[in-house]
Amino acid sequence: GTPSDPVVVPGDPDGPTDPVDPGQPEPDFDQPLSIPPLADSVVDEDGTRVFQLTAQAGTTSFRDGVETETWGFNGDFLGPTLRARRGEQVAVEVTNTLGESTSVHWHGMHLPPEMDGGPHQEVEAGGTWRPTWLIDQPAATLWYHPHPHGRTEKHVYLGMSGMFILDDDEADTVGLPDEYGVDDIPVIVQDKSFTEDGQLTMESPVPSGVMGEALMVNGTIGAVQEVTTERVRLRLLNGSTLRSYNFGFDDDRSFQLVASDGGLLPAPHETNRVQLTPGERAEIVVEMEPGSETMLRSYPQQLGEIADPDGYGALDTLDVLRLEAADELAPSAVVAGELSDHERLDEADAATTRTFVMKGLALNGQRMDMNRIDEVVTVDTTEVWVVRNEDPMPHNFHIHDVQFEVLSVDGAPPPPELSGRKDTIYTEPGREYRLIMRFEHYANPEMPYMYHCHLLRHEDFGLMGQFVVVEPGTEPPTTLPGPGHD
Ligand code: C2O
Ligand code: CU
Repeated sequence: GTPSDPVVVPGDPDGPTDPVDPGQPEPDFDQPLSIPPLADSVVDEDGTRVFQLTAQAGTTSFRDGVETETWGFNGDFLGPTLRARRGEQVAVEVTNTLGESTSVHWHGMHLPPEMDGGPHQEVEAGGTWRPTWLIDQPAATLWYHPHPHGRTEKHVYLGMSGMFILDDDEADTVGLPDEYGVDDIPVIVQDKSFTEDGQLTMESPVPSGVMGEALMVNGTIGAVQEVTTERVRLRLLNGSTLRSYNFGFDDDRSFQLVASDGGLLPAPHETNRVQLTPGERAEIVVEMEPGSETMLRSYPQQLGEIADPDGYGALDTLDVLRLEAADELAPSAVVAGELSDHERLDEADAATTRTFVMKGLALNGQRMDMNRIDEVVTVDTTEVWVVRNEDPMPHNFHIHDVQFEVLSVDGAPPPPELSGRKDTIYTEPGREYRLIMRFEHYANPEMPYMYHCHLLRHEDFGLMGQFVVVEPGTEPPTTLPGPGHD
């Protein structure tokens, strides 16, 4: 490819064809975990907190002596952690220095559709974009990543992702470890596949995307994190394009699951496994004994009745991150027994029920069309979305703008890990997921939000639809006008 296009894409005639180096040594888990820096920001005279993100190409040394071409924000790989508090107005000045257009989507954020960073807000090569919005949702671990039409997998795979942490007063008072990089650790888990000469490749024997042979956390392969406190909070993000993870520890210890995609659970859930499909997040609190160590590991996944479990890495056991406790640990607060008293949405209030079936790699029989509006939602209403995966392969389902609650899975009440606010949910083949959500504040009949499978090759292939939110009485549009929409 060209210098701005380092990845080996499927079908690239110049690309190497052997994706895996069988001689690659097992990592020793002695590499200090890289912690993405907290992004600098300035508060301007209007009180807006302003961040800068520059999309750029560079190289990264994932292994000694090998320089790999990568993309990142404000650096060579991944991006800084953005952090803001509920009630703040934020703005992000995005500059694109790549040789092609990209976009930056704020995954999990409630914000106006013009600011969402989806495929209708691409930033041209050399261009800039300055979205601004009010942070108006509970504390949560969100993230940002590109969303250019048909190229999301490539941009994310090359390294363009970062966390966006939201704070609020409620989450400050429930005893969670909160010193960033010390006892509050971002854990962006990704798998990558390398060519023999150490470049990232998207070549894959699986049509759904890359099942990488190398696992990395925040870009570090074989990472160790020193723990200096009795409890440590891990903000887990599945930043992979295809692979799911079923996290646990090698000594099978239990931990407290305290938050899902949209923020705190009603109460901590004591468990020894948490499964995350691409795009999902979970916050866990792990207790450590002085001088002890444990390995965060991904165990075989519970993906349901898929046709090719091996092809989706469902049977893999993979070491992820070693935690090593110091001989003396500073005391940590005890996590409160109740975390969030967020009022749950009531199905009786739902104005509309919609059904979404994923089948044949299409959504309700159609593939994504930038000019077609698939659903029209009235602002300030509650809706139930019923989602089914009728393909014999894994899919998940992500909705922009809102956090939803899970009403039921196959008619049964949701398990504890699905008891909080979510924006992405795994959809097992043959199961039915009833989700409830409320669309508030922002209406624009000409600018859609997306919903899609977050297995990024599926998304790029067209397993995505568009909805607009409109004021009551607005004539519902079905197509979008003008150039730039195709
Ligand atoms: Cu994380 Cu529409 O994406
Ligand atoms: Cu999918």
